[in-house]
Amino acid sequence: MAGRIPEEVVEEVRTSVNITDIVGQYVQLKKSGKNLFGLCPFHEERTPSFSVTEDKQIFHCFSCGRGGNVFKFIMEIENLDFPAAVTKVAELGNVSVDLSTYQAKPQRPVDPKREKLFALYSDATVLYHHILVNTDTGEAALAYATQRNLNTTLLDTFQIGFAPQQRDLLITFFKEKQTDFQLLRQSGLFIENDDGTLRDRFVGRLMFPIRDEQGRVIAFSGRILQVAENQPKYLNSPETDLFNKRDVLFNFDLAKSEIRKAKRVILFEGFMDVIAAFQAGVKNGVASMGTSLTNEQLYHLRRATDQLVVCYDGDAPGMKATNRVIELLKDDQRFNLSIVTLPEHLDPDEYVKKYGSEQFQNEVTNSLETAPAFRLHFLKQNRNLDNEQDKIAYINDALQELVLVPSAVERDVYLNQLSEELHVSYTALVQQLQQLLKKPRLSMIVYGHSNNQKKKWCPFTSNRCIS
Ligand code: CTP
Ligand code: MN
Repeated sequence: MAGRIPEEVVEEVRTSVNITDIVGQYVQLKKSGKNLFGLCPFHEERTPSFSVTEDKQIFHCFSCGRGGNVFKFIMEIENLDFPAAVTKVAELGNVSVDLSTYQAKPQRPVDPKREKLFALYSDATVLYHHILVNTDTGEAALAYATQRNLNTTLLDTFQIGFAPQQRDLLITFFKEKQTDFQLLRQSGLFIENDDGTLRDRFVGRLMFPIRDEQGRVIAFSGRILQVAENQPKYLNSPETDLFNKRDVLFNFDLAKSEIRKAKRVILFEGFMDVIAAFQAGVKNGVASMGTSLTNEQLYHLRRATDQLVVCYDGDAPGMKATNRVIELLKDDQRFNLSIVTLPEHLDPDEYVKKYGSEQFQNEVTNSLETAPAFRLHFLKQNRNLDNEQDKIAYINDALQELVLVPSAVERDVYLNQLSEELHVSYTALVQQLQQLLKKPRLSMIVYGHSNNQKKKWCPFTSNRCIS
């Protein structure tokens, strides 16, 4: 029977863990004086006001006022009652006490409609997966999946499934279960016919479940087995009470602990990129599901790390999208950004297939470029450097770019590279850059690194930063 956890057991758990280790699994903490600081996980903020005092084993947010001991932290962040929080802390801190006799239940009342939608998505996931791996109907799709190197473990881990050609498979399944019609309508899994009846939205597609941060399936993306002109390659669930594409990163639930361990996240474009990377041993990968990374997605990432590695497709749209991420983060110093540009216009999935896991790991670890280096690379695209006009235009663009680099040493590295690459004198490049640096640039925002300070050029001196 459920009951109170004895005070001495609570104390045992509390004293066996260090609050910084527990909080550190949710918030990136940095030492500053006696305390550790980080971004408060309970509200959006850009400068850290959340502190942990190790001496006293407490946390406190100077902005929202929340504070307390390790149990209070877990109650708030995991939405648990006290006994459940004690259990969770014991779990996170690897404390070996048996708390199984004390009941744990969610503190806040759950929203019954959302819960029903979760259950619906869970059932659909199981059904689609079953069809793919166990039935004749799924045979062709399974062959397709196998050809794309999706082995049984991957199919299970990512709960990949198949929505067959039959338009009424899923709707029949739920009708037999006597699922509420309005719930089915609101689920986004069906399309309404003119006569008000429903038919399956996903037909003849390999199904990638999209999971929320807690690992619950909240949407699907279905890939067509054979790309056709009049059909989208990937068809996504529409927006529902559970799913807002802007606010979700594919695989964040599985990657979260890996991101914290590796202290960085790798951002991919697509489902197959994340999965191929996972198979290659790179498990701290998530996908923006296309090339338009949103601020909401960045907000989630920032909770886990400040090291962002962008590994979009190596083709022109991928590079353009990477460039957009640089733009997006230029006036936002929350991340230390680095970039991987895969060769031969490959996407990560294709790269792994062609060059294997080890070389892929090497690419995402040792071939990192800084944002300015990528920009130089980007500006060179589609220019013929043997042509004088192109070459001069490139030099001008490149120098404009280097004006934005705050570190003189870093600028020098690029100037040397440019000089060598373009066979122009280093002195000439420096002279021209000095000219550009002298031009007043009021409050111009420049590249900077991770210390959460916006760095601006001083408009009056050429190369010093003010904040
Ligand atoms: N995407 C999407 N809807 C589309 C097309 C793409 O949501 N109509 C998202 C998917 O998450 C997809 C990602 O954008 O994985 C990248 O798209 P793309 O590069 O076109 O596809 P790949 O990931 O290369 O897919 P595949 O390897 O299956 O061809
Ligand atoms: Mn691909």
